[in-house]
Amino acid sequence: MANVVVVGSQWGDEGKGKIVDWLSERADVVVRFQGGHNAGHTLVVDGKVYKLSLLPSGVVREGKLSVIGNGVVFDPHAFVAEVSKLKEQGVSVTPDRLKIAENTSLILSLHRELDGFREDAASNSGTKIGTTRRGIGPAYEDKVGRRAIRVMDLADLETLPLKVDRMLTHHNAVRRGLGHPEVEHSAIMTELTSVADEILPYMDRVWKILDDKRRAGERILFEGAQGTLLDIDHGTYPFVTSSNTVAGQAAPGSGVGPGAIGYVLGITKAYTTRVGEGPFPTEQDNEVGEFLGTRGREFGTVTGRKRRCGWFDAVLVRQAVAVNGINGIALTKLDVLDGLDEIKVCTGYTLDGELIDYLPASQGAQARVEPIYESLEGWKGTTAGARSWNDLPAQAVKYVRYIEELIGAPVALLSTSPERDDTILVTDPFQD
Ligand code: GDP
Ligand code: IMO
Ligand code: MG
Repeated sequence: MANVVVVGSQWGDEGKGKIVDWLSERADVVVRFQGGHNAGHTLVVDGKVYKLSLLPSGVVREGKLSVIGNGVVFDPHAFVAEVSKLKEQGVSVTPDRLKIAENTSLILSLHRELDGFREDAASNSGTKIGTTRRGIGPAYEDKVGRRAIRVMDLADLETLPLKVDRMLTHHNAVRRGLGHPEVEHSAIMTELTSVADEILPYMDRVWKILDDKRRAGERILFEGAQGTLLDIDHGTYPFVTSSNTVAGQAAPGSGVGPGAIGYVLGITKAYTTRVGEGPFPTEQDNEVGEFLGTRGREFGTVTGRKRRCGWFDAVLVRQAVAVNGINGIALTKLDVLDGLDEIKVCTGYTLDGELIDYLPASQGAQARVEPIYESLEGWKGTTAGARSWNDLPAQAVKYVRYIEELIGAPVALLSTSPERDDTILVTDPFQD
């Protein structure tokens, strides 16, 4: 049985939420395996808009199990708020429909504060990352530093004070260094005990649930957040998020073996966007970028920030195909290019006068690469809302074929609007 991992192949916001929602009809379980509520996944179902940050995008469908894997950093306050907002929209999230891994690390208010303190300080020195200020980085630091509080700790009130001590020793030293007041032990204890009753009913042994489901032949859909260029190892470091966002992370981030991953689907926007600071070789800080941003409604779901926009960069996506083991892509937002006279695609870079076909690893070199563009004729007709390959203008098909050739991966799905059903299936990623 082919389980599918969905990953972003650019800098996030490629349309993963829409595609995961669409694909989840064919799945039994949808699993988040990294990131946290820095993600913003928008789903549109019959005109109704759902914005998910922490919950898997399968949650809006009845009869599907949603899972938050141990690779996620979990903010209990954000969770409670998201569950209650969904309830207002008629989606009920209950412990029989959602499981949270017991070994998931928590994001607490002190993580969010530290994220903000650092970003504020960096704004003055010009070294800011442009994070979502959700505490993601500090929470992953605590996990790797072996001082995180995990979901299961909420049920162990005997050990909890010691864990809080361990975490606070570190945080208070950092806070003193940054000139901020220390946090009281009792404040953290109160924060934790006040959310425990709402979180613990969802806690479970996720590795065991997933093993049982696999053995029973059920289909698992792993939902990545962020994108390959934001990966802590493979992205544009240090302008990245603090987790591995690539497909391989689905295994340790949820507790399955690598053999559980059958098909890797890379979600790929027909152009490029990025939020936050960092290099962006094909950025169009001009009327082209404005056009893409306006037509594509490129504003962040989480922070409302305007996304930077540019032409499709085949160098980056080709690299994403390699580091994720992408079997096929879902090409999204093709409709945003409707009506353009000319469409440019970056096919390679020059670096200090030399031709290269990859993104160099160093920060300095990433900032110096110059894109080499191929220019294509746009199309006159429209792709917006197309639900069949035959409805696409010939020139649009040519663009899609050109991208496939450049990145070395086929288009498995094509998306032509935010609506769930405005999707063209070419190859079913779940097929055996
Ligand atoms: P994610 O983070 O990868 O899930 O992507 P976001 O949801 O943050 O951003 C993608 C945005 O584009 C959302 O507002 C979607 O509703 C929208 N979207 C997704 N697919 C398409 C598409 O094919 N065409 C258009 N016009 N919008 C799309
Ligand atoms: P989805 O899942 C786009 C970016 C932030 C910042 C960097 C680090 O919706 O695609 P963080 O708060 O993670 O420490 O910020 O990563 N970033 C995203 N950009 N889409 C996302 O998620 C992102 N999640 C984080 O803007 O540049
Ligand atoms: Mg997003």
